[in-house]
Amino acid sequence: MQFPEINGKTALYGIIGNPVAHSFSPAMHSRAFQALGINAFYLPFPIEPGDLAQVPQAFRIASVQGFNVTVPFKEKIGQYLDVLSEEARALGSVNTVWQEEGIWHGHSTDGPGFVRGLTERGWDPAGLDVTLLGAGGSAKAIAFSLLKAGAAKLHLVNRTEAKAEQLAQDLNKTFGDQRVLVGLPKGADLLVNCTSVGLKDTSTPLERGELRRFKRVVDIIYNPPQTRLLQDAQDLGLEWDNGLAMLLYQGVEAFEIWTGQKAPVQLMKETLAAQLTGV
Ligand code: ATR
Repeated sequence: MQFPEINGKTALYGIIGNPVAHSFSPAMHSRAFQALGINAFYLPFPIEPGDLAQVPQAFRIASVQGFNVTVPFKEKIGQYLDVLSEEARALGSVNTVWQEEGIWHGHSTDGPGFVRGLTERGWDPAGLDVTLLGAGGSAKAIAFSLLKAGAAKLHLVNRTEAKAEQLAQDLNKTFGDQRVLVGLPKGADLLVNCTSVGLKDTSTPLERGELRRFKRVVDIIYNPPQTRLLQDAQDLGLEWDNGLAMLLYQGVEAFEIWTGQKAPVQLMKETLAAQLTGV
């Protein structure tokens, strides 16, 4: 891989997490900077939990322009930033941070990235009836952005039903309507798996017989690229997609915030795909 020459004007970006060595973001963003001729690098920063509070100040001093945030800091970094976006405030989660005149801004591009991935695939969620499996952090981010994008109805299904009830109540309050319901509907346009079921084995969060009621199925898991849920969807002749688009577009959204330029999406996608085959 070729890199631009480092000089006195080279800017620095990165990702904080613990662990962070597995992240695909350094390769994806560094190559994107390079492709656009932007004099910047993107590095992994493994941070000890006890040091998190000092990161914004340390990065300001070191002129780090922006950074991504991954596990276990997404819910914790917000309190140390100056300004939070509507998403970051509603979700209590931040994955993208940038500096403007010494002020740190925090935003979550997970939900917007998911919706952009859907839209780019031609599956604009406006007016759709969507079922989400899960009620954790990913489900919350995706639900928020789907509602913001104009989804007509959201059905939440979760192993621990009380969590789905709570999330539905919070979202209905935030949006001032009653678009979010709890329980499996008779039919819906789109099913999204936001649980971790299928990540480590061939288990599925929804039995095959229940899948028939949906037209399209998205699993936010991208590794394995086709979970048992997606294999079942394919066998039933349903349209399906995995979580690679969400991973890609959360990065695309962050890159565009940092640079103000249109991201080289195809190159970023190829970089992710190459990283994934190396896993
Ligand atoms: P994330 O940030 O990725 O959303 P999370 O907040 O830990 O992770 O949420 C994980 C989701 O997967 C939850 O909805 C969880 O269900 P519970 O709320 O009942 O814990 C769901 N999940 C995890 N393992 C599961 C399993 N074996 N069966 C069903 N749901 C499961």
